[in-house]
Amino acid sequence: MLNLAVLVSGRGSNLQAIIDRIESGNLDAQISVVVSNAADAYGLIRAKNYGIPTRTLSPRDYSDRRDYDGALARMIEKFHPDLIVLAGYMLVLTPAFLDVFPQRVINIHPALLPAFPGTHAQKQALDYGVKVAGCTVHFVDAGTDTGPIIAQRVVPVLDDDTEDTLAARILEQEHMILPTVIQWIAQGKVELKGRKVFVKD
Ligand code: GRF
Repeated sequence: MLNLAVLVSGRGSNLQAIIDRIESGNLDAQISVVVSNAADAYGLIRAKNYGIPTRTLSPRDYSDRRDYDGALARMIEKFHPDLIVLAGYMLVLTPAFLDVFPQRVINIHPALLPAFPGTHAQKQALDYGVKVAGCTVHFVDAGTDTGPIIAQRVVPVLDDDTEDTLAARILEQEHMILPTVIQWIAQGKVELKGRKVFVKD
């Protein structure tokens, strides 16, 4: 049973997808804490609905991001997570956090990395004029969406797409791929060699 800490900044639909997969009996994991940088994140309410412990830590209470990430790591360590899942967590983690959990942090990003990292990925894709878009689950390093790629899913970009319609099509894939990758990790199928990730059958 994989012990998860999930970090959210907002809506938390990816958190919900993980919860749903656990509830359905198809994900050998439990969520020991959901943490947010924003007290009003709806993801916190989703967690509470299932009796999952929640914590909020505001960057405003710390002098800089290094201090904040150190405090965040200490808080999360208490829950002894095997894996930390960034599910719509909008802050870039620094080594003050990442060095505490080497190769144990994954993120979901709504683009086919390395294209369109950072914010407004779907708008970046539309503005560029690409014909396919998608989402990526990757290990987190200190860059912005630059870590080793574990899995990607592709969707078409349609001529009449808006940012919202494209985001919705990508989100459907996010909700499938993120719990699936967590299950692969729970089953010990994911191996990281250098910056390449191999998923065993
Ligand atoms: C998702 O599109 C995720 O890929 C991105 O932020 C969004 C979060 O959505 N990093 P939600 O909070 O999981 O609903």
